[in-house]
Amino acid sequence: MDDGSIDIQRAARAAAYGMPVSEINPADPELFRTDTWHPYFERLRKESPLHWAVSEEEDVGGFWSVTRFDDIMAVDTNAADFSSEPAIVLPDPAEDFTLPMFIAMDPPKHDVQRKTVSPIVAPNHLAYLEPIIRERAANILDDLPVGEEFDWVDKVSIELTTMTLATLFDFPWEDRRKLTRWSDVATAAPDSGLFDSTDPEQAEQQRRAELFECVDYFMRLWNERVNAPPGNDLISMLAHGPATRDMDRMEYLGNLILLIVGGNDTTRNTISGSIFALNRYPEQDRKLRENPALIPSMVSETIRWQTPLSYMRRTATRDVPMHGKTIKAGDKVAMWYISGNRDETVIDRPDDYIIDRERPRHHMSFGFGIHRCVGNRLAELQLKIIWEEILARFPKIELVGPPVRLNNAFVHGYEKLPVVIPTRT
Ligand code: HEM
Repeated sequence: MDDGSIDIQRAARAAAYGMPVSEINPADPELFRTDTWHPYFERLRKESPLHWAVSEEEDVGGFWSVTRFDDIMAVDTNAADFSSEPAIVLPDPAEDFTLPMFIAMDPPKHDVQRKTVSPIVAPNHLAYLEPIIRERAANILDDLPVGEEFDWVDKVSIELTTMTLATLFDFPWEDRRKLTRWSDVATAAPDSGLFDSTDPEQAEQQRRAELFECVDYFMRLWNERVNAPPGNDLISMLAHGPATRDMDRMEYLGNLILLIVGGNDTTRNTISGSIFALNRYPEQDRKLRENPALIPSMVSETIRWQTPLSYMRRTATRDVPMHGKTIKAGDKVAMWYISGNRDETVIDRPDDYIIDRERPRHHMSFGFGIHRCVGNRLAELQLKIIWEEILARFPKIELVGPPVRLNNAFVHGYEKLPVVIPTRT
């Protein structure tokens, strides 16, 4: 499919190398909406591996960017010098609307809250979830139209991950799309098209109002579960866990948003990314269909190649020297996983999508250190199942137009992916 992307990439390369390096702002969402971020990060890795930029977006202000694989690893595994408080995204929380969540906490509170929800992804619970997810994946795929264009993001990626999330929360089934909406609203930019107004203040008011609806809804579920014996869903775990049972309303909302966004957008965008990548690299699609045993390594390669969360932010707790510069105490630092995953000194041919790499799990998409993704095995499981079921049904899934990408520097993904399934097996 020729979507003009080669010309776009050529122009992006000229622009990225034509400007003074000091002017590069890697957090510009436009780079992600237009999929032109590659040459900017390539240049930063080579010429400015610790890079200062100032972003006007959402009052971010000045921040450091770390773009090489080994440097990202060093920051991510050093929680003492690089705190996750007050936020893991570049904008600071609004003073009048702070949502505490354990991804944005340091030890010891982080550790005990993380431990409270960890049983949800214990091997025995994943084994329990596998047939449930498989049955749903099969139903979703069996209902897809054949020979007719549809949006893969909406009909498959969102549907499957929302169903899984509803199961993790034991959430009322008929209302499950509310989870999708809250997940989108929590991270969307004011001009994303999700809000009634693109005016930042009005969009923010709407976001808050919808998130309050979210916590009110979940409060009812909490009240039911706290009076029942402990169950193996996330709400019950939070309501009964000694480290979480006394959370106030905002902390409950914060942790809910963490679990909703963590479990939803990321996996959704990986499922979409797998369709996009296998269309862009048809020889990899053939390889996969000839040898379905490659599914697990294809899944990991997609998670690397897509990098569903472009970065995580830290805040320096003391002055830290790096590459001849000094990160000052209080400075914001973005660890660009999306760039570390393209570091040519660590990963061979990093821009290429190669489903049978020797070490497919050698990537940064789940982070490292004490905050490493809790749900990584669950994400991989969902991807593995959907692809086993796809291969059993469809000889081809054809991308029939350019994807619409998110206008977002944090969540790296797709809004729409137009496809046609020509025939069933
Ligand atoms: C491909 C899918 C996914 C990707 C790429 C992803 C990525 C990430 C990343 C980058 C982090 C932060 C790591 C760090 O700071 O070092 C994280 C943390 C987290 N993820 Fe995921 N995630 C995915 C799926 C999931 C799923 C399915 C769940 C749901 C259970 C989940 C729940 C979480 C939670 C709760 C945290 C916070 C962990 C902590 O602070 O200790 N994630 N994830």
